[in-house]
Amino acid sequence: MSMNSPAYRRFALASALIVAAPLALAMGNRPKADDEATNEATNARIQPVAKVDLAAAAPKAAAGSRTGEEIYKGVCGACHDAGVAGAPKTGDKGVWASRLGLGLDGLTKSAIKGKNAMPPKGGSDATDAELARAIAFMANKSGASFSAK
Ligand code: HEC
Repeated sequence: MSMNSPAYRRFALASALIVAAPLALAMGNRPKADDEATNEATNARIQPVAKVDLAAAAPKAAAGSRTGEEIYKGVCGACHDAGVAGAPKTGDKGVWASRLGLGLDGLTKSAIKGKNAMPPKGGSDATDAELARAIAFMANKSGASFSAK
């Protein structure tokens, strides 16, 4: 069989395919398997970080979901702890008694609007619901038994 004969060329081509096909399969598969392993390892490394980030974000209360105590301690206490500027002092049942008659709704409306030296919302960025919680927190230390959602 001459190297130029069509029969030899078919033989050479067939031989090349026989050798090359499994090689191509093997080479084609191996990097894919490596990629999958790499992806899994990367996911495994990334996942705990993503979970930690979520866990770290969770305790930080978003505006609107802060407790009355958080709002009070962050803002209201500046005046109401000591009774600054004529603010009814938290825990002083005597000065709160006449105000408690307004009820939680009435006191909340008053605090939203502001009153004399009391700035609107106490100068805070509290939502109405947070303000009501803060008022319940301070009023309940001063003789009331309000419950705010
Ligand atoms: C800059 C000082 C100051 C801050 C801060 C402040 N208050 Fe006051 N607050 C006052 C003063 C002064 C009064 C008394 C107003 C009056 O009756 O003349 C008052 C009164 C009130 C009253 C009674 C209102 C009424 O109609 O009797 C409520 C309720 C109240 N504050 C809630 C809050 C809440 C809630 C916060 C925090 C978000 C807050 N205050 C922050 C000064 C303050």
